[in-house]
Amino acid sequence: MSEQKKILITRRVPEAVTKRALESYRATINGDDNAYGNDELLARCAGMDGLLCTITNQINRDLIMALPGSVRVIATFSVGFEHIDLDAANERGIMVTNTPGVLTAATADIAMLLMLGAARRAAEGANLIAEGWTGWTPTQLMGIEITGKRLGIVGMGDIGRAVALRARAFGMEIHYHNRQPLAADLEIGAVYHESLESLLPVSDFLSLHCPLNDQTRHLLNAGRITLLPDRPVVINTARGPVVDDGALIAALKSGRVAAAGLDVFEGEPNIAPGYLDCPTAFLLPHLGSATLETRNAMGFKALDNLDAFFAGKEPPDRVI
Ligand code: DGY
Repeated sequence: MSEQKKILITRRVPEAVTKRALESYRATINGDDNAYGNDELLARCAGMDGLLCTITNQINRDLIMALPGSVRVIATFSVGFEHIDLDAANERGIMVTNTPGVLTAATADIAMLLMLGAARRAAEGANLIAEGWTGWTPTQLMGIEITGKRLGIVGMGDIGRAVALRARAFGMEIHYHNRQPLAADLEIGAVYHESLESLLPVSDFLSLHCPLNDQTRHLLNAGRITLLPDRPVVINTARGPVVDDGALIAALKSGRVAAAGLDVFEGEPNIAPGYLDCPTAFLLPHLGSATLETRNAMGFKALDNLDAFFAGKEPPDRVI
């Protein structure tokens, strides 16, 4: 029997994933669950054959260039991989894999939760209970109804389509912008917009589902906010930097944007302070994929990728 490979798992992972990792590998798991700084991460990579990392690690060029030669593969426990410098990994001949597909339902559910929570003022309602509710009144915490409203989706991949499916059940009319229009069986009546400038004016609700890259950084900025209809609701479950926080906070505070439901933040876990004292911002701490089922599936996928790599096969979710 060949010797088990050594892998470093950079955060605590669910129990079933831990069990499988320890059965298949000489796995070192970050049981303290602190987010390693890069010096510590590098030190812990000594002698490792592979790395199972998360979005909380900054696998940048400097780190990749300094990795010991033994590290041949990086399996990220995430669908997003913007925290990994792919060019540097390529230069070092290190394979990178991710976990697509298994987060779709959980993330779409959180987008709906944010949509409803922001539109129906759920955080303000919960605060009212906590602070001492004195009773029902006809004008108390009136929100925005989602039924019959137009939902603009930016990025109609798996998650965007899963949000559309759920939103249709709430009686919303779906519009979307994507690089390409979808085939009719995937579009299911949604209206395609070739440009954001065409989508934004019909988005009573706007939900972001695009990856973060140079084209999408600060995609929702002050100029584009002015193209939205009066008092829209903005939802972000994609990546924080897709939104220009300063512009969104100003629009929330002036009432130009009625409410925002945000699960992701530029520079998270630090959050732009303007959101924190803004009652119309409904905020969650990056919970998109946080169900036991999904987190297990993500961990198993990351291990499937490592298993394939070390068996000399093509990993199912190879990024590079
Ligand atoms: C991902 O997988 O990219 C998510 O953001 C983590 O939930």
